[in-house]
Order: sequence, then structure tokens, then C-alpha cells
Amino acid sequence: MRIPVTLIPGDGIGPSISSATVRLLEAAGADIEWDTQVAGMAGVAKYGDPIPDVTLDSIKRTRVALKGPLETPVGEGFRSINVSLRKTFDLYANVRPAHSIVKGGRYENIDLVLIRENTEGLYIGIEHYIKIGDDPKAAAESVALITRAGSERIVRYAFEYARAHGRKKVTLVHKANILKFSQGLFLEVGRKIAREYMPQIEFDERIVDAMAMNLVIKPEIFDVIVTTNLFGDILSDQISGLVGGLGLAPGANIGVNGAIFEAVHGTAPDIAGKGIANPSALMLAACMMLEHLKDGERARRIRTALEATIIEGVTVTGDLGGKATTDEFTEAVIKRLEA
Ligand code: NAI
Repeated sequence: MRIPVTLIPGDGIGPSISSATVRLLEAAGADIEWDTQVAGMAGVAKYGDPIPDVTLDSIKRTRVALKGPLETPVGEGFRSINVSLRKTFDLYANVRPAHSIVKGGRYENIDLVLIRENTEGLYIGIEHYIKIGDDPKAAAESVALITRAGSERIVRYAFEYARAHGRKKVTLVHKANILKFSQGLFLEVGRKIAREYMPQIEFDERIVDAMAMNLVIKPEIFDVIVTTNLFGDILSDQISGLVGGLGLAPGANIGVNGAIFEAVHGTAPDIAGKGIANPSALMLAACMMLEHLKDGERARRIRTALEATIIEGVTVTGDLGGKATTDEFTEAVIKRLEA
């Protein structure tokens, strides 16, 4: 039976990298029934809503989506795309792998996966100003909420991810030495869950500031990293930087009610419509999606062909120093897949 997946082509370069990705998956024999829906500016143009109900309904049905980059409309009255998706599908885990593909960079042996808690911490949006005397904004307060249940599910997700992907170690990143209650609870829960998986999977804990330094000095010693929302936001861009920036970075948002896979980069308005965008990040996101759909062998084949094409460096797009168009690059990957 074909697997239904919602496809949101996206804005800017989105439609072109999405159709390249669909072509590649079809060439690899993935048995997917795409349900194409709009969001972002395409959603505003068609339904007056950047995240239309029909799109949300499609993901509710398929529970899996591949999403191109979306332009967030400026102005009042529009629903926030990310907030709607996160709330509707309770997308609690943001998964960002970083893996060196091209040799000769600053680091050659990086193979990390950062798992960020996506629904709690300092980003829950509970904030207020405190008036003192005549100054209505004399102080501001933001609440960092950490729950036992939220910590348990993200740490467990990290260990289950490690087990499913044959990874050896989970590093929990915290700041419990200073934030003894909120970060202390996250660490306490993490240590308890870790005991269920040790010794098959090693457990390691690091304070976030030391972690930032260690990621620069010896990133190759890390494997799976799990952390709270704010630290994860910062460290996930840091690890993308370690392997050459956002251009090749895929991401996944995993929830209780659905999973959404995407490229980390944006709509690239400067090159949109020129047919020269690099589709690799979305293709790598599609590989994560295939793994999620328990089709890991196909994901491995696609990734091998894609990486070999990039490493060879002959038929690559401009951002990787080549001259190929999106279509020529896709064709080169498909040829390797069939070789
Ligand atoms: P961007 O990632 O779109 O572009 C930054 C630079 O990287 C540009 O020079 C662009 O040409 C280049 N670039 C990005 N992806 C590329 C690709 N696949 N191939 C070749 N070159 C690529 O970031 P920017 O300019 O800050 O954002 C543009 C728009 O994208 C904004 O409306 C923003 O809100 C949106 N955006 C959407 C995201 C999403 O939906 N996941 C994530 C980030 C930004």
C-alpha cells in the first residue's frame, strides 16, 4: 500500500527543490502518495491564510509532511505558521543532524544529531513587564517552564533515536549548576531515563557553556545531544556551522500527532525562479522522513548517492562551487542511484 504523505512545496525556491526531491524519491522507488497542499505566501494567495485548515487537515490524516521553506507574511491578522504546526501536532522534538560531507573543511569527522525540546523552556511565551514608579517597563520577566513529563518524553526520544540509529552515546546539555530548579529537574529526569538504556547506550552530561566550547574544540567526540529549547536553538545552528552552514542541513519536527520534515534554510528569494537552488537539504530531510517511515535502507541508498555527487564536486550547484542547475544536479544523483 502506498504511504500517504503531505507535500508542502513552499515559497521562493521551495517548489523547485520540492519537485526535485519528489523526482529523486520516485527514482529510488519510494512508494509514496503525495497529497500536495499550500502554506506560507502560497497559502495566503489561495486561502488568505499562511497555514490553511485544509493543509492542517491533510497532515492530521497522513501524520507525515515534507515541507519546503515558507515565507512568513508580514502584517497583523495572520496565524503564525510555526505556532500553529507546533500546537496542532504537539511537535516536541526538533531533530537536527550535522554530518561532514565535503572533506577539506575545518572538521572532517563530525556526525552529530542534536535533539531539542521544542515546546517548553524559555520559549513558552509567558512574559510580562514590571512597572516601577513611572516606568512601565522598568523590568521584564520571562518564565522558563520545565515539566517532568516534557523532560521525560524528550530524553526518552533521544535514547530511542540513538537505539534506532545504532548510535552509542547521548549527551544531555544543561545549566543545572545555576538554574537549580528548572534545569535541575531536566537533569534529574535525564539521569533517571538514562539508567534504562545504559550500558548499551552511554550517557554523558555537560554544562551548556562548556559544551559550546567542546563543540568547537573536539566535536567528533559527540554523538546524540539532547537539550532544552533555548540551548537547543543556539547549539543547533552552531553544529550546522561546524559542517559548512545551513545549506546542507535537514531538520525534523517530531510530535505526538505528526512529524514534519524540512530543510533548515529559507526561501532564498535572491535566487528563486532561476533554477539554480541546491535541493540537497530537502533531499536529506526526505531521507530522515523515510527513516521515520521505517524505510531506512532506501534512505541510506539515496544519501550515499547524494553525498557521492557532492563529494565528486563536478555536477553541483553554485553554492557548492559548481555550475549545475537544480535539475542537472538531481539528474546526477539519480544516475548514481541507478548505477
Ligand atoms: P535563506 O536561507 O532563504 O537565504 C540565505 C542565503 O542562503 C541566500 O543567499 C540564499 O540564496 C542562500 N540559500 C539558501 N538556501 C539555498 C539553497 N537551497 N541553495 C542555494 N542557496 C541557498 O535565509 P533568509 O534570506 O534569511 O530568509 C528568506 C526567507 O525565508 C524569509 O522570508 C524567511 O522568513 C524564510 N525562512 C523560512 C524558513 C522555513 O520555512 N523553514 C527558515 C528560514 C527562513
